[in-house]
Amino acid sequence: MAFLEEYDAIPADQPQMRIAHIVEYLRGDWRAMYEDLRANRAVFDAPIFTMVTRATDVLDVLSQPRLYSVRPNSVSMDPSVGPFMLARDQTEVNWHEKGLMQAVLRWDDIPKVRALAGDVAAEPLQGETGEADLVPLIGRHVPLRIVQDYFGFAAPDDRLLAWSFATQHAMFRNLSGDPDIVRKCVDAGEEMRAWLWPFLAEKWAAAPLEESDVVSRIINLSREPAAAFAPDRVVSNVCGLLVGTIETMSQAIVQAVDQLLGVPSRLEEARAAAQANDIARFDGIVFEALRFNPITTIQFRFAEVDREIGTGTPYAQTVKAGTLVAACTGSAMFDPDLMPDPDDFKGDRPASSYMHFGFGHHACLGGHLGNVAIPEAVRQVVLKPGLRRKAGPGGQIDFAGGPFPEHFRIEWGGL
Ligand code: HEM
Repeated sequence: MAFLEEYDAIPADQPQMRIAHIVEYLRGDWRAMYEDLRANRAVFDAPIFTMVTRATDVLDVLSQPRLYSVRPNSVSMDPSVGPFMLARDQTEVNWHEKGLMQAVLRWDDIPKVRALAGDVAAEPLQGETGEADLVPLIGRHVPLRIVQDYFGFAAPDDRLLAWSFATQHAMFRNLSGDPDIVRKCVDAGEEMRAWLWPFLAEKWAAAPLEESDVVSRIINLSREPAAAFAPDRVVSNVCGLLVGTIETMSQAIVQAVDQLLGVPSRLEEARAAAQANDIARFDGIVFEALRFNPITTIQFRFAEVDREIGTGTPYAQTVKAGTLVAACTGSAMFDPDLMPDPDDFKGDRPASSYMHFGFGHHACLGGHLGNVAIPEAVRQVVLKPGLRRKAGPGGQIDFAGGPFPEHFRIEWGGL
């Protein structure tokens, strides 16, 4: 039975059951759900949010931040890391600080970040025969080292991983608004800022610094009156660097490898590009693989005014001010209007059609780094001869009941 048929069979006075049905599809056959919705109810009024599923409408929502804002993000972000760009629309905080942070996350660094990701990913892949748990050893370890070595946020491994998990969980994976998850995020933010203040104070005292990492650049920049980058704003933005990096990148690396291992022809195509050192081709294949299981298929927004979505179409619908709008980027990436032959695996699609790093006003600050670190980590894995998933449950991605991948075991050689 199709998604909508099952959904409509659940009584309307059972909103929890209807939501559970949507969540089950989101965690499972989300492609089937979105295909049904795009064809039959493209703007879908679900109990706690309205889902927007066609590419043209997703682009419409994400490109109009004054109409569809990120205001709800402030509930988890403000008490944890302070005011932050991803909880503010077309404000000084977003405009000014995104600009400053872009200036220190330089495009010139892209080769350095790619090389770092490659070196860190290669470490646990030594030997002609072997096995590895991809999540701790590569998925999380690659971004962890980017945070410590390239960003220069040199806190201990266990603290960075714990802060990153707690904040990402509450900020992006807490649909029900579970107060316990929010509390852990606030506690993590407080602990992170308490660690950062003396760390940064020491650097301010020693400035101007040699610009060996991103934090050093931030310190030097913040001493310039023209930058108007106050110390508390520096702290929030250094927190943001960590929050954005670890679980996102880990999940992308792990799920891309899983998608390549799932279909022999994809793995062959990827291996051929890797062996030919055709980096552009290889990277395209990785982001195409990720399209079949992206780290999220939704960006949430808050309708600031009553507004019709899908104007001029038979499915046009007015969304009332105050509605939570689910801009379904995962659906848009399977809409033939954006992705011709969407069910086909094509590694040469235009990079600009993907929404892995969001779209519009809040498009990812670290997208240019993820764009190289994710495929480079995957490349090191794909280059192992005889690469395969470990037999049994260990060879499947294990979320261990949580919001992010925890284990995924691979093997190589010995065939
Ligand atoms: C490399 C380190 C990363 C950093 C420092 C970072 C940081 C950020 C920041 C600060 C924003 C908000 C920008 C704004 O409000 O204007 C953002 C948005 C976003 N990032 Fe990243 N990010 C990183 C990696 C990633 C990765 C690897 C992914 C996914 C594969 C990702 C997916 C997203 C998405 C989907 C958004 C849009 C959120 C929305 O529209 O609500 N990010 N990122």
